[in-house]
Amino acid sequence: MNRKKFIRTIGILPIGLAASKRSSNSDSGFIADSNIPRKEKNTPCNEDYWKHIAAEFERPKGFINFENGYFSHQPISTFKTHIQAEETINIQTSHFMRTAQNNAIENARTEFAGFQGISPENLAFTRNTTESLNVVIMGYPWKEGDEVVLGNQDYGSMVEAFQQAKMRWNIKLNTAKIPLHPINNKEIIDAYLSLITENTVMVHITHMINLTGQTVPLKEIISAVKAKNKNILCVVDAAHSIAHLTFDLSDMQKAGADVVGGSLHKWLCNPIGVGFLYMSTPVIELFWPLLGDVSVPKSDIRKFEHQGTRPIHSLQTIPYAIKFHRNIGSQAKLNRLVYLKLLWLGDRDKLIRFAKSVNMDTNPQFVQQISKLKDLTQIPNIDVLTPIGIQDWGGAIFTISNKKMKPTAFAKVLMDDHRFFTVGIEHAVVNGIRITPHLSNSVADCLKLNEALFEVLT
Ligand SMILES: Cc1ncc(COP(=O)(O)O)c(C=O)c1O
Repeated sequence: MNRKKFIRTIGILPIGLAASKRSSNSDSGFIADSNIPRKEKNTPCNEDYWKHIAAEFERPKGFINFENGYFSHQPISTFKTHIQAEETINIQTSHFMRTAQNNAIENARTEFAGFQGISPENLAFTRNTTESLNVVIMGYPWKEGDEVVLGNQDYGSMVEAFQQAKMRWNIKLNTAKIPLHPINNKEIIDAYLSLITENTVMVHITHMINLTGQTVPLKEIISAVKAKNKNILCVVDAAHSIAHLTFDLSDMQKAGADVVGGSLHKWLCNPIGVGFLYMSTPVIELFWPLLGDVSVPKSDIRKFEHQGTRPIHSLQTIPYAIKFHRNIGSQAKLNRLVYLKLLWLGDRDKLIRFAKSVNMDTNPQFVQQISKLKDLTQIPNIDVLTPIGIQDWGGAIFTISNKKMKPTAFAKVLMDDHRFFTVGIEHAVVNGIRITPHLSNSVADCLKLNEALFEVLT
């Protein structure tokens, strides 16, 4: 297929042309050049609409993937754009790097910053969340005796980075116990606040916990920390929340976050290997870059991007990944993911409550879809490890355990006997299987999973 025809077929702009700006964010739409119906049709139960979105992803053969928490597959349009951009770089080699690389990076920065409603001057690209937060943990000018508050369910790599910092600089780590089933938000906020002392210089908060999908009240935690001492740095791990929940970097900035790290290969569905680091303007100067740099002013966030030769084509896809996301709309995407989660769980009360909140409780498709569900939450052998509904519906991730089986054995039975891929988590705080649907999953997938889980759990 020639290049022009290929671009027409997948409905994308040639690399280098900017995608739409934040103001054009649409809450409905279609992907590529298909004839997907628009507007109100994106209600979460409307398979006529969502099957077109699902068709934008290539699915694995031989099993149904319900482990989309690791990273996301790319929509076909983004995937092909990536290959096309790599091909161009492969042909132009050093000429591309010497003449076009900088513009490509700056274009990606402007696009992603615009999408998130922040200034490009507060945004650096990294390889992933792990790298972004290591910039912060390894680059802070620690003094012996400085204290950090982190969470007992923070991502392992961040905990290790803090442990290494402890060995290196003799800092003190105080670990907040985040309740698995909090009665209210105050319980979570107090878990952090109670550990703050006069030596606390940093609080590390995971917005959406990877083990269970639990979302913490970020705004309220930051506000409570800053009320205690405005100089304490609030560092956010947003690996799972960006382009998943609707709370974006502009909201985090308004909430007073000093630093946020995230990965674009998770819910933005960009190719693997691009992360972001947000820093508020006053704190940029505080941190040393992880990869030595003296050529960029200390106050310029680009000092964190001294990465050597790297895959620029993975940055060039960012406008296309954003376009795909916007064509669906942040709220519509989240509603669909929450619906898929509630469907496989079969929690009838919550399903009806959720359906009311999105005005689909009397929709005949919804009524039919939930008619044969088994409510797994009523089975004595199940333990539900993810809280829902204190403040919101969370996102796609949900974790359950089977009292009769270890998590890895439970995940193995689901894969071997029913061809559902999930992940067994064996962790100090959480032991269960994590189930994470994606836009590529259908209502039918969730109904089948509901049946399979009922069989295994009873
Ligand atoms: C909460 C959280 N933080 C950080 C990471 C690390 O992300 P990455 O591997 O993209 O660096 C993950 C990965 O799943 C995560 O769930």
